[in-house]
Amino acid sequence: MNRPDLSSVDLDAFRTIMGSLTSGVSVVTGLDQEGNPCGMTSSAVCSVSADPPLLLTCVKPPSRTLDAIQARGCFVVNFLDAEGSEFSDLFASRTRDKFARVGWRPSEVVGAPLLDRTVAYAECTVHDRVEAGDHVIVLGRIVSGAVAPERFPLGYWRGRYVRVFRVASGVPRRSQDRQE
Ligand SMILES: Cc1cc2nc3c(=O)[nH]c(=O)nc-3n(C[C@H](O)[C@H](O)[C@H](O)COP(=O)(O)O)c2cc1C
Repeated sequence: MNRPDLSSVDLDAFRTIMGSLTSGVSVVTGLDQEGNPCGMTSSAVCSVSADPPLLLTCVKPPSRTLDAIQARGCFVVNFLDAEGSEFSDLFASRTRDKFARVGWRPSEVVGAPLLDRTVAYAECTVHDRVEAGDHVIVLGRIVSGAVAPERFPLGYWRGRYVRVFRVASGVPRRSQDRQE
């Protein structure tokens, strides 16, 4: 009888398959040991637990942002809005003075940068860190946050930025609200 092939897919197949999973686009920010802001674009952010309130982000070392998060034990996840693709490109680049080019302010609780172009942000303390292949999973406990209800998010799909719209369904308004 033929056995199924359980060897891993190659990098191209991995990218093609996982690139088809639509994600949001976030900028994860922190402060380094000298207090300088740093930040990186991340599509690998997701909700983990409601009680305690946990999210995760996956970071590939070496990363200045990862070093800062680990040094201070806290960070902010900025969920970009539909106009945020330039922010995403900037924070994915090696540009030195990223924060001179965008509007931002320090967050109230952990003091890491809050960017202007967000649908929401979450202030986090580091709950745990797990090495997973070539990335580090950082689990954050959400200690504060806020949303901009009138804004729509930026999405990422198959290597391109996409816009996300609500689907008009026949669902009564009140139960739609409950899902959000
Ligand atoms: C749309 C998009 C999503 C990205 N997602 C991730 C991610 O989830 N994890 C990661 O390590 N890098 C990701 N990157 C790449 C980082 O943003 C990039 O390597 C950045 O320069 C790291 O900054 P740092 O070294 O200053 O921390 C992404 C880039 C783009 C454009």
